[in-house]
Amino acid sequence: MAAYEYETHDYDVVVVGAGGAGLRATLGMAEQGLRTACVTKVFPTRSHTVAAQGGIAASLSNMGPDNWQWHMYDTVKGSDWLGDTDAMEYLARSAPAAVYELEHYGVPFSRTEEGKIYQRPFGGHTTEFGEGPPVQRTCAAADRTGHAILHTLYGQSLKNNAEFYIEYFAIDLIMSEDGICQGVLCWKLDDGTFHVFNAKMVVLATGGYGRSYFSATSAHTCTGDGGGMVARAGLALQDMEFVQFHPTGIYGSGCLITEGARGEGGYLTNSEGERFMERYAPTYKDLAPRDYVSRSMTMEIREGRGVGEHGDHIHLNLSHLPKEALAERLPGISESAKIFAGVDVTKEPIPVLPTVHYNMGGIPTNYWGEVLNPTSEDPNAIVPGLMAVGEAGCASVHGANRLGSNSLIDLVVFGRAAAIRAGKVVDREAARGVPNQASVDKALDRFDGLRHADGGTPTAELRLEMQRTMQEDAAVFRTDKTLKQGVEKMAGIAGKMADLKVTDRTLIWNSDLMETLELTNLMPNALATIVGAEARKESRGAHAHEDYPERDDDNWRVHSIAHLEGNEVKLTYRPVILDPLTEEKEGGIELKRIAPKARTF
Ligand code: FUM
Repeated sequence: MAAYEYETHDYDVVVVGAGGAGLRATLGMAEQGLRTACVTKVFPTRSHTVAAQGGIAASLSNMGPDNWQWHMYDTVKGSDWLGDTDAMEYLARSAPAAVYELEHYGVPFSRTEEGKIYQRPFGGHTTEFGEGPPVQRTCAAADRTGHAILHTLYGQSLKNNAEFYIEYFAIDLIMSEDGICQGVLCWKLDDGTFHVFNAKMVVLATGGYGRSYFSATSAHTCTGDGGGMVARAGLALQDMEFVQFHPTGIYGSGCLITEGARGEGGYLTNSEGERFMERYAPTYKDLAPRDYVSRSMTMEIREGRGVGEHGDHIHLNLSHLPKEALAERLPGISESAKIFAGVDVTKEPIPVLPTVHYNMGGIPTNYWGEVLNPTSEDPNAIVPGLMAVGEAGCASVHGANRLGSNSLIDLVVFGRAAAIRAGKVVDREAARGVPNQASVDKALDRFDGLRHADGGTPTAELRLEMQRTMQEDAAVFRTDKTLKQGVEKMAGIAGKMADLKVTDRTLIWNSDLMETLELTNLMPNALATIVGAEARKESRGAHAHEDYPERDDDNWRVHSIAHLEGNEVKLTYRPVILDPLTEEKEGGIELKRIAPKARTF
């Protein structure tokens, strides 16, 4: 057994991750007087939410008629009828209050002439239950909305006495013998010490796993750490086959160009200068949802109408927009286009390509953020002491495809919901249990094994193999052949984890070891993704299967549940929640099941 000393910290709640969801949960917990620690591997305002550009969806009706029922309908249709209806209702209904709360906390939103929060159109957001014109629902702080939210939430959390443990890497969950989550073991990166956070509630807010792919808009820190810890604890991952490609990553670098660019009037063209989205989505054109636009772009490229020397990308045109609008509404992407593509957006189109952006799947939760442990007897059974929020979790509010700007609202609505729930279930007076020593020892042993890994495969080499395989074989379009090949290749790649080579064995600022720990988190996420994709014999949302081009509601309107046993993924399925939370008539609109129909735009 590895001999490492560690310090124990006692809290009511420990939140792992300090992006939008983590900070909103931390703030909500601290506001209620729960003793709250937030543990994060990067400085809070460097979390990936800082890169969120276009905005946050809420039916404020500042720019025209809107209501939360339209927002809910768009979210259901956007999810391709895989989202859980209770969670989608909770999101759309709570969104306006959550945004006003952010405004009152101090988020510097852009303003209309009248001083209201400025809202822009985004893909898939419509009026009249998908029958009316696009709606301006996405509240924006220029094109730096995530940045504005993150800074505000961090300041508010400090004001409310939340305690931050910055540059602490979470190694593993501490679980009791009877399956209760008791805390988390962390490694402090700058001095090499170990820390057990002993808590009555652990909230995983660790973000997505975009870096399991070669080209992603996600930060290099998006390594699915929560999913990795959960998989090692024998718990489930849900709907992992649904990976969102954002239509406009900059060709080459993958850097994000916000959908807000199309919301402000930008449009895509092919090598013939044609606005091809008019053919694929005659009503909403460039403002169709992301899965739709990404597939259309891919088809244009495949059919020989891509732009550039190799005909392998598409143009995003903004130069027809007034210079003042670009400077006021889209300053960030104007700068990114210059730096990463050498393009002056006032004169030239930006070269773009669909790029991995978001994971709809994650750790299964209910809409309070409580982690589920679906069993055949009870698909909604919860894991005591454990919550997951934000991209790490799967409530499931985005189903098979997320609408743009529904991510930031997911972070704050469900971060807030988790805090409300914890306020009810965490007993402040109860004595804290002693963390299970066997679980702490197991986590330290795993760490020690990786620290001394002395095989023949450097971490960076294996990571690249995984990223290239995922990029090639679990792409925008998938086939039986590519998925089968991907599953086989990934099994071989995961097998090489036993042959890893770590060259730096020190404990202070050891990025080789940290990246190895991250790879042990990326790998289960990637395996569950490709195995789940291979098993799903239909097309739905972001899962576009060329051998099964239709959605199959009779057989496949179910959440996939992946359990990992070593590198083997075992799949089961759990029913989608079809009923809304409320059934009363509200505002003249009857809330009822929204029946599936063809998803055209
Ligand atoms: O395009 C964007 O600004 C990204 C927004 C989102 O993913 O919600």
